Amino acid sequence: MKIPNTFGLDVEAAVFLEYDSVEELERLIAAGYITSPYLHIGGGSNLLFTDDYKGVILHSRIEGIEVLTEDDENVTVRVGAGVVWDDFVAYCVEHKWYGAENLSLIPGEVGASAVQNIGAYGVEVKDLISSVETVNSQGVRHVYSVDECGYAYRDSIFKRPEMKQVFVTHVCFRLSKQKRYTLDYGAIRQELEKYPVVELGILRQVIIRIRESKLPDPKVLGNAGSFFMNPVVSREVFEALQGQYPQMPFYELDTDKIKIPAGWLIEQCGWKGKSMGAAAVHDKQALVLVNRGGATGADIVALSDAIRASVLEKFGIEIHPEVNFI
Ligand code: EPU
Repeated sequence: MKIPNTFGLDVEAAVFLEYDSVEELERLIAAGYITSPYLHIGGGSNLLFTDDYKGVILHSRIEGIEVLTEDDENVTVRVGAGVVWDDFVAYCVEHKWYGAENLSLIPGEVGASAVQNIGAYGVEVKDLISSVETVNSQGVRHVYSVDECGYAYRDSIFKRPEMKQVFVTHVCFRLSKQKRYTLDYGAIRQELEKYPVVELGILRQVIIRIRESKLPDPKVLGNAGSFFMNPVVSREVFEALQGQYPQMPFYELDTDKIKIPAGWLIEQCGWKGKSMGAAAVHDKQALVLVNRGGATGADIVALSDAIRASVLEKFGIEIHPEVNFI
C-alpha cells in the first residue's frame, strides 16, 4: 500500500491501517494488529521517507467537530484527529470563531497539528489548544491539558521517541467569539489595506494569498512546507553576524534568544532555485525543498545535507530539518 506523502515520494508500507473511531483503534490494538515497527502518520505533509516502510503505518480517519462549551466570549470545540486542518480553519471562520485564521491553508490534519505545534503569521496552534485526547499502544486513554504538552517552537512532548506509542485521537480548541486578530507579521497589514474593513473571511483570504505566493501547492510540486526550522542564536552570535550582514532579518524572542530566518541564510548561500538532480530549492522561498518529479527520499536528503554544510561554512550556524526523516 502506497504511503500518502506531500513530497510525492513513491513509497510503500508493508501494512497500512486506518480507523474512524477511538473504539475501532482500541479493537485494532486488542486484536494485536499494531506490531513493531509501527508509525502513526497524519496527512504525510511533514514526513520524508528515505525508503519503503517495513512495518505498520497507522492513520486516523476520526472526523467530527463538536461544540463542548460556549458562552458570549469563547467556544470550546472537540475535533477528530483525522479532520483536514484547513477544513477546520474554514469551519471556524464560517462560524465567526476567532483564532485559527492565520493558520489557513497549512497542509495536514488536526491530530498532527497538535503534535507538531504548527504555526504561521504570528500564531501557533498551542495558543488555541485546551487539551489533547490520546490512546496509547496498550489501549489506555489519556487526556493531556495544554500545559502538559510541553509546547515550544514546532515541538511538543508528542515528538519524543518514547511518545511514539501515544496516538492523538481528538484535539480540543478554545476559540474566541469576540473580534481578535493577529496582524503584526510580515506583509499582513499591508495586504489588508487593500480592503475597506478587516473581517475574518478577508483575513483568511489574505493569509491564503500570502502563502500561495511563496509556498508551492503539493499537488503540483511535491514539498513538505518549510524543510528546516529557523535557528535560534545567542545575542553575542547574532551581533557578530549582524555586523557582517546588516540587512539580515531577525526576530527577538527574548534578550538572549534571536531567531534568524533559515530561508534568508540559504538564499545568501546561493541555493534559491538550485537543483540537485530531481530535488530542488523552491525559487520563491528558499526554506522549501521540492520534488521536481521522480526524486527519491535519498535525493532530498543529499540536497538537505549540502545546504546544511553551506550554511554552516558561511555563517557558522547549524540548521536542522523541521521535516521528520523516516
Ligand atoms: N527570506 C529570504 N529568502 C527566502 C525566504 C525567506 O530572505 O528565500 C526572508 C524573508 O524575506 C523574511 C524572512 O526570511 O524576512 C522570513 O520569511 P517568511 O515570512 O517567508 O517565513 P519563514 O521564517 O521562512 C516561517 C515558518 C512557516 C510560516 C512562515 C510565516 C518555520 C520553519 N517556518 O517561515 O511555516 O508559514 O514563517 O509565519 O518556522 C512550515 O512550518 O512548514 C511553514 C511553512
